Amino acid sequence: MITIIGATGMIGNALLRRLMEGGVPVRAISREPDQLRQQIVDLAFSSVELCIADANDPESMRRALAGASQLFLALSNNPRQVELETSIIQIAAQEGVKHVVKISSPAYEERSPVAVAKWHADIEQALVTSGITYTILRPYAFMQNLLRLAPTITTQDMFFGCIGDSPCNFIDCRDIADIAAEVMTRFKSVNSIYTLTGSETFTYPQIADKLSILLNRPIEFFNLKPEALRTDLIEHGQMPSWLADHVVEIQTMSTVVSEKPTDTVRRLLGREPRSLDAFLEEYRDAFNRGYNHAMK
Ligand SMILES: NC(=O)c1ccc[n+]([C@@H]2O[C@H](COP(=O)([O-])OP(=O)(O)OC[C@H]3O[C@@H](n4cnc5c(N)ncnc54)[C@H](OP(=O)(O)O)[C@@H]3O)[C@@H](O)[C@H]2O)c1
Repeated sequence: MITIIGATGMIGNALLRRLMEGGVPVRAISREPDQLRQQIVDLAFSSVELCIADANDPESMRRALAGASQLFLALSNNPRQVELETSIIQIAAQEGVKHVVKISSPAYEERSPVAVAKWHADIEQALVTSGITYTILRPYAFMQNLLRLAPTITTQDMFFGCIGDSPCNFIDCRDIADIAAEVMTRFKSVNSIYTLTGSETFTYPQIADKLSILLNRPIEFFNLKPEALRTDLIEHGQMPSWLADHVVEIQTMSTVVSEKPTDTVRRLLGREPRSLDAFLEEYRDAFNRGYNHAMK
């Protein structure tokens, strides 16, 4: 039995689909019964076990992990992430879980200004010292993040950042899920850490050019000063301040630490990573004028 914490999330849901299609017994965890049930109904599968649990409630996490041999752990970012994920790992060890696949983030230097990267480093440490076999996946930015730029692209033909023309790694969440499925279905007791990227880096101005061609109208990238971006994300994007800080920190980091692709997806899956062009083409409608983002 594989427990998926984050079964409604971008990677966890793709993993859930892969494992269910392969007939692997899965326990899917969410705090939102209706959302998860709807996703399972959409999939027309009934064999998966649904479990309503919240990382803030250790007893519910114990129920989520009882009898599981493996755990996939992808919790959305929140300021209590270290405490919550560390507690989940401790409960997993107590419940006899044999293997944890954890979604982490790229490891930057010790003095990294990226607070979330530091959180992940602390959680990785708790996992490595837990005694459970681990696979740590360190993906760079998800291609799916680009959908968050869509509201201003659809209404103003522009998007904003503070990343300048620094090359960035992007990876499709479905490639991360494919790797998680691979390591969980062929599980051997080996501790591993993988850094995951697509096959090429792209700058934000290059993405603007790609969108202009795809959408047949000019799309512009506006580079803002970090503080101006932070204010815009909070005031217009309704982001909590810690998340706006994270976006600014991660984009600033990309301007000082050069990003290069890895060949990990190709090595583990024996195929090329999904491409950014294919992703943008698939989600073209979300960037088109008139697209109703409130309906998503
Ligand atoms: N976005 C990126 O580019 C990127 C890059 C590298 C690493 N990462 C890492 O990837 C991880 C996933 O992030 P994401 O934003 O992509 O997540 P996401 O897809 O939004 O999914 C988050 C999942 O966390 C679950 N969750 C949140 N709080 C929970 C709680 N208290 N108890 C139980 N489940 C809870 C949600 O389940 P319910 O809401 O259904 O309960 C949801 O399924 C993060 O740790 C992030 O640092 C992200």
